[in-house]
Amino acid sequence: MRKFEVYRWDPETNENPRIDSFEIDMEHCGPMVLDAILKIKNEIDTTLTFRRSCREGVCGSCAMNINGKNTLACTKAIADYKGTVKIFPLPHMAVVKDLVADMSHFFEQYASIKPWLTNDATPPGEGERLQSREERAKLDGLYECVLCACCSTSCPSYWWNSDKYLGPAILLQAYRWLADSRDTDDQARLDDLNESFKLYRCHTIMNCTDTCPKGLNPAKAIAEIKKMLVQRGHT
Ligand code: SF4
Ligand code: SF4
Ligand code: FES
Repeated sequence: MRKFEVYRWDPETNENPRIDSFEIDMEHCGPMVLDAILKIKNEIDTTLTFRRSCREGVCGSCAMNINGKNTLACTKAIADYKGTVKIFPLPHMAVVKDLVADMSHFFEQYASIKPWLTNDATPPGEGERLQSREERAKLDGLYECVLCACCSTSCPSYWWNSDKYLGPAILLQAYRWLADSRDTDDQARLDDLNESFKLYRCHTIMNCTDTCPKGLNPAKAIAEIKKMLVQRGHT
């Protein structure tokens, strides 16, 4: 048997948040934390509310705080934890209900960096815009980001300044387009980022890189953006 403690809050009840405890027989449960959460919802308490979709670590929707660290519940093995497994929503986000954090502002920030290919210089011609193997390799470590927000919600700078600071996830995405050889909008993208709060609230604390469940390095991507700005002379 394993014990799970889960954060609960339903805004419609006017009650304070609480922690519910559940005992689960691991003989009849899948190996991942998401399996336990699904078992609780299916067999014990159908009101438990959370997001999930792919259960393969590619949709980013099951991000939550498990035993003090942000991660994806579907790729985190219960066996990685000893004793009680404590499950909370992503920290420093408004809670919609139970484990569901309000991601509206996070995705507004994502839209603000224009996360699409811009290329006004060369006509597309026929077929695809090609890259060399070397150009394509520059996107490794960036394209894998699933926008789960584990990194941003573990970043103290983002906790205190998320109204203005873009945070590690969105900055990694911003760098993903700066690093793309097919995109010709670098100068405008850098102009937009070259602002004291959007980018420069990163103080290299490295929580982001430490927590990323996809093994990515947002702090390095942020450093690369700062390097690009230095190289062009802060114009
Ligand atoms: S390195 Fe920067 S973005 Fe990452 S946690 Fe630290 S302050 Fe936040
Ligand atoms: S960089 Fe990692 S932790 Fe941050 S949003 Fe992307 S996948 Fe999630
Ligand atoms: S359910 Fe898609 S990442 Fe966990």
